[in-house]
Amino acid sequence: MKDETPQTVHLADYLPPSHLVEDVRLTFRLAPASTRVLSEIRFTPNPARPGAHDLRLDGEALGLISAAVDGTPITALPDTTGLTLPAATLPDGPFIFTAEVEIAPEDNTRLEGLYMSRAMYCTQCEAEGFRRITFYPDRPDVMAPFHVRIESDLPVLLSNGDLKGEGPGWAEWHDPWPKPSYLFALVAGDLVAHSDRFTTASGREVALNIWVRPGDEGKCAYAMGALKRAMKWDEETYGREYDLDIFNIVAVDDFNMGAMENKGLNIFNSKYVLALPETATDDDFARIEAIIAHEYFHNWTGNRITCRDWFQLCLKEGLTVYRDQSFSSDMRSASVKRIEDVLTLRARQFREDGGPLAHPVRPDNYVEINNFYTATVYEKGAEVIGMLKSLVGEDGYRKALDLYFDRHDGDAATIEDWLKVFEDATGRDLTQFKRWYTDAGTPRLTVTEDFRDGRYTLSFKQETAPTPGQSEKPPRVIPIAVGLLNPNGDEVLPTQVLEMTEAEQSFTFEGLATRPVPSILRNFSAPVVLDRASTPEERAFLLAHDTDPFNKWEAGRSLAKDVLARMVTDGAAPGPDYLDALTRMARDEALDPAFRAYALRLPSEDDMAQTLFAAGRTPDPAAIYAAREKLALAVAEALRPTLTSLHETMAVPGPYTPDPRAAGQRALRLQALAYLTRLDGGARAEKQFSEASNMTEELGAMAALLMIGKGEEALASFARRWAADRLVMDKWFTLQVLEATPAALAETARRLTEHAEFDWKNPNRFRAVLGAMAANHAGFHHASGAAYRLLADWLIKLDGINPQTAARLSTAFETWRRYDADRQGMIRAELARIRATPGLSRDLGEMTQRMLGEG
Ligand code: TRP
Ligand code: ZN
Repeated sequence: MKDETPQTVHLADYLPPSHLVEDVRLTFRLAPASTRVLSEIRFTPNPARPGAHDLRLDGEALGLISAAVDGTPITALPDTTGLTLPAATLPDGPFIFTAEVEIAPEDNTRLEGLYMSRAMYCTQCEAEGFRRITFYPDRPDVMAPFHVRIESDLPVLLSNGDLKGEGPGWAEWHDPWPKPSYLFALVAGDLVAHSDRFTTASGREVALNIWVRPGDEGKCAYAMGALKRAMKWDEETYGREYDLDIFNIVAVDDFNMGAMENKGLNIFNSKYVLALPETATDDDFARIEAIIAHEYFHNWTGNRITCRDWFQLCLKEGLTVYRDQSFSSDMRSASVKRIEDVLTLRARQFREDGGPLAHPVRPDNYVEINNFYTATVYEKGAEVIGMLKSLVGEDGYRKALDLYFDRHDGDAATIEDWLKVFEDATGRDLTQFKRWYTDAGTPRLTVTEDFRDGRYTLSFKQETAPTPGQSEKPPRVIPIAVGLLNPNGDEVLPTQVLEMTEAEQSFTFEGLATRPVPSILRNFSAPVVLDRASTPEERAFLLAHDTDPFNKWEAGRSLAKDVLARMVTDGAAPGPDYLDALTRMARDEALDPAFRAYALRLPSEDDMAQTLFAAGRTPDPAAIYAAREKLALAVAEALRPTLTSLHETMAVPGPYTPDPRAAGQRALRLQALAYLTRLDGGARAEKQFSEASNMTEELGAMAALLMIGKGEEALASFARRWAADRLVMDKWFTLQVLEATPAALAETARRLTEHAEFDWKNPNRFRAVLGAMAANHAGFHHASGAAYRLLADWLIKLDGINPQTAARLSTAFETWRRYDADRQGMIRAELARIRATPGLSRDLGEMTQRMLGEG
C-alpha cells in the first residue's frame, strides 16, 4: 500500500530482537531481470526477550517463491514491509528458516539493495537495503556470520570475508566475523584489479585489491597508497589491525553517496577511487585519501563494534569522521585541515542546525533513517569527540578508546556505552556532556571582558535557540581554548582550555602588565558561534600575530565578514585595515601557501547570508553577491603586485604530484589567478588553461574564465578532450552551473539538463547540475524563483526512481526562513507542491514535512 501513513520510529520504543541469528547461508543465482536468492538462516530465541514471540522478518519488493521453518512450508503471507512468523508456529529452541525469493536488479533504480550499474551487479544495504534482497531481521543488533554462494557467468564474483572456493560460474565466500545485514555486500562484473599487499603489525599478510572496469586499472594507485597509509596509521594510532586475509574495494559509477564500509568489501562511488593527475584535482586527491581512510577505519568503529539501532548512528559515524580527520591532519597540514573541516562544518552543519531540519547528534525519532545521514550526525558528531578528547586529555582518550575496543568488541553498542568507557577510564562525570548528543542547536557564546589592576576577566554567556521539538536548552559544558597576547604581539598566556559549565561564567587571569588581546576558541575548540564585539584593528592584529593558526585565519575571515556586512548595508568601500592586513598576510613567506590561499578566499555568499540572518537581518542574496563581487575587485586591485608575483612564484616546477605542499602552492597560485583574471581580461587564465598539464590547473583556469564570462572556448575544448571520461565531464557540468551569473543560472542549468550527456538517473551527474545549482547562492535565490521551480520539478522526477538522493538534495530549501517574504513564499509553495505529489516517497515526504515545519 503506497499511501499508508509512514510511521515514526522512536528511540524510546527500542526492544531487543525476539530472535538472534546464529548463522546465515545465502545463494545468489544472478540474472538482471530475475535473480533468485536462497536463504538458510539459523535462528535462536533471544534470552534477552524471555517468552514466546512472533518473528518479524523485514522484506520489501521481494517475490516470495517458497519459505519453510525446519523444512515445513510456512502459511503466513508477506505484507508490503515483511513477513511475520507467528510464535505459535515456531519451535521454542533454535530452528532453520529457509526461503527462496526473486528480485529484479535491473529494475532497481533506487540503488538500495541489489542493483545494476552499467552491467555490473552491486549492493548497498545501509541502512535498510538488505530487506530488498531477502527476508531478514534487518536491524543492526542482529549479527551473524555469513556464507555466500554466487552463481553467475561474470568473471569476478565478490562478497564479504574470505574466498572459500570458486569454479566456472560460481564463487563461495565466508565472513567469520558476525555482522549486521547492513554490512553485507555482493559484487559481480567484468572487473580488473589493481592489487597490492599489506603486512600487519602482527605479521598477517593481507591481499589488497581495488576492482574497477577494464581501462580504469591505471587510476587506482593513489587510492591504494592511501589505503596502506590508513592501515598503518590505525595500527600506530589506535592499535587496530585488519582482521581478514583479504581487503577488497570496488568502484561503482552509480552510487547514492560517497562510499560504504561493507566488511572486507568496501564499495565506493568511483569518484572517490579513480584519479590521475590529468583527471583529478588536488581536492579530489585529498578527498580520496580521506574517504578511503574513513571506510577502512569503519572496520573497527562500525563493523567490529556496531550500532545497537540507527539512533546510535553517530557512534560509528562521528567517531569514524573524527578518526579520518585526525588521519588527514597527520598526513597533511594539521592547521589547514582544521580550517577546511571548520569551513565544512559551518557551511553544512551550522546551516542545518539553524533551520527546520535541526536535530540532535543522536536523534530520538525518525520516519526514514536515510534522512539522518547528515552533517549533524557526521561532522558535529566528530566535533563532539574532539571536545571529549580535549576535556579528558590525550591519555584519557587513549585509555577510554582501549577500553571501548576491549569491552565492546563484537557488540552492537550505544552512546551510553561510549560515554561509560570514558567515565570508567577517566573517572569523569559526563552527565552534562551528554547534552551534546541529545540537544540540537548551535550554542551562541557571547564574550565581554574587563581589565583592571593587572586582572583580566573574560565573561562568557551561552545561549541556544529553540529547535524543532526542543524548546528548553540547558547549558552545556563547553571547552573554550584561550590564549592571551600582549599588544606588542608576544603571547603572554599560551593556550589554556577553560571549561564552561554554567549559562554565564567568568574566568580571571592575574598578573598582567597591560591589557591583553584575547585569542578565543583556538583551533575551534567547540562547535559554537563566537560573538565578540571587536575592532578592525584588533582583528588585523590577530591576523598578523596570533600564534594559533586557526584563529589567525579566523581573524582574517571575521575581518572580511565585517567588511562585507558593511558593504551590503551601505555600499561602503572596503577600508585600508582589511586590504593592508591581507597584503601582509599574502606576502608572508613564513606562512604555508595553502594557509594563505584559504586566507585570501572571501567568505561564501551562503556564509554571509547565515551570518546576517543570525545577526537579526534579512539577507538579500543579490546584495550579498554584488558586495562580494565588489570586494573581490577591490582586493584584486589593492593586491595586484602581490598577486602577480604569487602567480609567478607559486608555479610548481616538474611533474605533478598530489602532495600537500605542491597542492598548497597550486591553490595559492589559482587564488591569485582568480583575482588577476578580474583585471587582465583573462589573458593569464587563457594561457594557463592551454598549458595546463593537470586537472587542478586546467579546471582552475577554466573557472576563472567562466567567472568573467569568457569560458566558451575553454568549455568546448574541455568537452572535446574529456568526452569519454564521466567523472571529468561531471566537473564540466558543475562548473558552468557554479559560475553562471545569478540571472542566467536557472536557464544554464535547464539547458544542461537537456544535454545529450545529462544522464539524470546517475546520481553524480544529477548532483553535478541540480546540486550545483543550489550551491550558486545568488542564482538559486534569484528573485524570479526560476531556480526554485526547476529544482522542485527535478526532485519530483527523481523521487519517482531514487528517493534517497532526491531527499538529500531537497535540503537546498532548508534555509527558507532566512529570506524575505517573497522568497519564503516561493520556496514554501515549491515545498508544498512537492509534498502534494501523488505517490511521494517516505524519504522526500519526511523532508518536506520537516522543512515546512509540520512537526
Ligand atoms: N556508512 C557510509 C559511510 O559513512 C555511508 C552510507 C550510509 C551510505 N548509507 C549509504 C553510502 C548509502 C552509500 C549509500 O561511510
Ligand atoms: Zn562512515
